[in-house]
Amino acid sequence: MAGISTDELVAIALEMAGMRRLPADSEVYVPGREIQRLLVALDVGAAELLLARELGCDGVLAHHPAGGRAILRFPEVLTRHVELMVEHGVDPAAAKAALQPLVARAVLRAHAANYDQVPAVARALGLPFLNLHLPLDEIGRRIMVETIEQYRSQLDRECTVQDVIDALRTLPEFAEAETPIMVPVGAVDRPARRIAVVHGAGTNGGAPVAQAYFAHGVDTVIYLHLAPEEAERLRIEPAGTVIVVGHLAGDRVGINRYLAEVTRRGIEVVRLGV
Ligand SMILES: [Fe+2]
Ligand SMILES: [Fe+2]
Repeated sequence: MAGISTDELVAIALEMAGMRRLPADSEVYVPGREIQRLLVALDVGAAELLLARELGCDGVLAHHPAGGRAILRFPEVLTRHVELMVEHGVDPAAAKAALQPLVARAVLRAHAANYDQVPAVARALGLPFLNLHLPLDEIGRRIMVETIEQYRSQLDRECTVQDVIDALRTLPEFAEAETPIMVPVGAVDRPARRIAVVHGAGTNGGAPVAQAYFAHGVDTVIYLHLAPEEAERLRIEPAGTVIVVGHLAGDRVGINRYLAEVTRRGIEVVRLGV
C-alpha cells in the first residue's frame, strides 16, 4: 500500500481550508514520504514522539504548534482576528487596537519558548513530523458557521443564544463532548441576531476582541475557550454574550473532517486523545 508524504498531508489541509499556503503556526518539522500509519494528537512532545515509535507509527501529526517557526511566528496568525472582526463589521482601526495586547503577550511568550526541543527529538528519531493548526481550525470554523446558519434559517422566530447552542449540538463533536457548551458572559435567552464564530485565529481573542465585536453590533461571540479572568472583565459591563464551546470538542470539528479525508486515502490514523 502506498503511503502519504508530509507535503501531501499539508496539501489536503490547505485544499479543505481554502488556503493557498501554510500559515505561520503550522510547519513540517521533519519531512517524510510513504507514511502509512500516522499518530495524531492535539499536543505532541518528546513522549508522544517516542510513543509513536512504540506503536509502530511512521509519521506524527500534531494540531497545536510543537516548535520551530510555528511557535516563533505564532503571533502572526493572530492577525486573522482582524480579518474576522472586519468581516463582521468592526472598524479596522478598532479591530487592530483590540488585538494589540494579545499580540504583545504572544510575542513575549514565543520569545521565551524552548522552540527546538521537540523538533530535535523528531530529527534524532528520524520520524516524519508536522503540525497543522490554522488550516484545521478554519475547516472547523466553516462547519460551525454553516451549521448555525442552516439551523437559524429553519426557525420561525427570532434566534436566541440557546438556539445557537442547540444548533452546535447537532454536530457530534458537541453532542458527545464531556464539556458542555457554556455561556460565561450574557445569557441563553438573549437574542442572537449577529453572531461571530471566532475560531481559526490562533487562539481566542479574550476580553478586548469580544468587546470590539460588541461595540460594533455583534451580540453573540463564539470562542472555543476563554480564560476566567477575561470572562470576569467582560462581566463588569456585559454588552453581549460569549458562548464557549469547549477546546477539545471545538478542535475536533475540523480535525475529524480532515482525518476522515486522510483515512479515505488509505492511511491508518492512530488517534491519541483526539
Ligand atoms: Fe485548534
Ligand atoms: Fe486548540
